Amino acid sequence: MATDFTEETAADAVIDSFAPSTDPRLREILTSLVRHLHAFAREVELTIPEWETAIDFLTRTGHKCDADRQEFILLSDVLGLSMLTETINNRKFGVATESTVLGPFHVVESPKLDLGANIDHVGTGTPCVVTGRVVSVDGAPLPAAQVDVWQANDQGFYDVQQPGVQPRGNGRGLFTADDDGRFWFRTIVPSYYPIPTDGPVGELLRATGRHAFRPAHIHFIVTAPGHRDLTTHIFVAGSDYIESDTVFAVKKSLVADFTDEDDPAVARQWDVPVPFRRADFEIIMQPAS
Ligand code: BEZ
Ligand code: FE
Repeated sequence: MATDFTEETAADAVIDSFAPSTDPRLREILTSLVRHLHAFAREVELTIPEWETAIDFLTRTGHKCDADRQEFILLSDVLGLSMLTETINNRKFGVATESTVLGPFHVVESPKLDLGANIDHVGTGTPCVVTGRVVSVDGAPLPAAQVDVWQANDQGFYDVQQPGVQPRGNGRGLFTADDDGRFWFRTIVPSYYPIPTDGPVGELLRATGRHAFRPAHIHFIVTAPGHRDLTTHIFVAGSDYIESDTVFAVKKSLVADFTDEDDPAVARQWDVPVPFRRADFEIIMQPAS
């Protein structure tokens, strides 16, 4: 006898169609996906034109993707899914520094630089000295830590977004912490910036009355032997959009003061002009389990 399709039995019919040989984790994920998807369609009483609009939106999202642009990840970002997945997979571990999203701009290898180097090769913007120390959760310094940093310039653009304007590698550096786990480099204070809005994700933001901005931040990937890799940002306290990051990536523990400095003697010590700004923070790494 043929099975009878009803709103109530639809999800079970799909789930029952999975072969017994289906990989158990794939079965778990697809079963939950189908149940939630069907429940969603029933809850909103999805119309056929709305279903067509969704298919068209997803199709155009795919067409917007290429080697340099990942519109699906951007969609995941603005829907909060990227940060949720990041947070589930890097649950807060005691005092360890929290993680946040990688973002799409870690696309070129950061140049290996000596401690103290200036990662800004353009010379506009407010000079800034960033110092920090990489330690384990028990406070022990991690001397061999690698600190990879990248940031937007004072206009809110990464080097890869402005070929011919910024030299490749501007705003990027790979540093090795000293024997005491310390690192330091010079830069300029990054600006807040908008995520790309010339695709379907931009349409979604406009349709829902949302802005496209991320607050000012410096990206970090920190690695140290015997510890979990850490992907995070340091956000500039007081930046525009710090309370409304369009990709929901701000965690309060990652907001740092970039204090004003105008003492010429201190400026000379760091080889920067006055006035400049200064940020200092500890990066606490979680031991690998
Ligand atoms: C970023 O911080 O570079 C970024 C993160 C998510 C979406 C767009 C940009
Ligand atoms: Fe960024």
